[in-house]
Amino acid sequence: MADELDKAGIAKAYARWAPVYDLVFGAVFERGRKASIAAAERVGGRILEVGVGTGLSLPDYSWSNRLIGVDLSAPMLRKAKTRVLQHKLTNVEGLAVMDAQHLGFADAVFDVVVAQYVITAVPDPEATLDEFARVIRPGGEIVLVNHLGAEQGLRAILEGWFAPLARRLGWRPEFRWERLANWSARHGGVQIVERRPMPPLGHFSLIRFAKT
Ligand SMILES: C[S@@+](CC[C@H](N)C(=O)[O-])C[C@H]1O[C@@H](n2cnc3c(N)ncnc32)[C@H](O)[C@@H]1O
Repeated sequence: MADELDKAGIAKAYARWAPVYDLVFGAVFERGRKASIAAAERVGGRILEVGVGTGLSLPDYSWSNRLIGVDLSAPMLRKAKTRVLQHKLTNVEGLAVMDAQHLGFADAVFDVVVAQYVITAVPDPEATLDEFARVIRPGGEIVLVNHLGAEQGLRAILEGWFAPLARRLGWRPEFRWERLANWSARHGGVQIVERRPMPPLGHFSLIRFAKT
């Protein structure tokens, strides 16, 4: 389903977030970032981080892995470039402005794709996941950490109410697990390896898909 969020709107939203992003979302998402890095490093090798943002996660990767980061937002990515220089991260091979749905890489060139707090912020999550699966090798993994919408109850109602405002801020609060499960069933070349609750409040999940 290609819905509601468009690239221009997302780029505008994250240009506004860039100056304050680390302050607002640095600490609160840290556990999820670290857990997804640990998951990615169990596979290790050449890792593509999609929606790398300001590069908050980059200093936490082991030096033995080679990293490439891409993001739609040039202002967010400028911060990531500064961080790479400041921390002398020689394991970061490149950072580029790129759309997650149209990755400029050949098939099967990465061991892992990591997307932290990104999959509900892209215009077409299913097409974007197809693209992630295309660029990893068989046996490689897609590692996501993300907020997932509640299936029912008060949280589901509140997320529905908040959705129109959240679109303008750059994400979908009501995005449910079902969409990811349906995507993997439809794709046919990936399998779900893990789905684990993450803080804050267990409303987030770490999700791993392996390419078969
Ligand atoms: C919530 S931020 C997460 C940033 C970072 N991963 C983190 O953990 O802090 C979402 C990021 O996804 C990026 N993004 C959104 N849509 C994108 C797309 N279609 N292609 C590439 N990056 C995208 C945004 O520019 C933003 O940097």
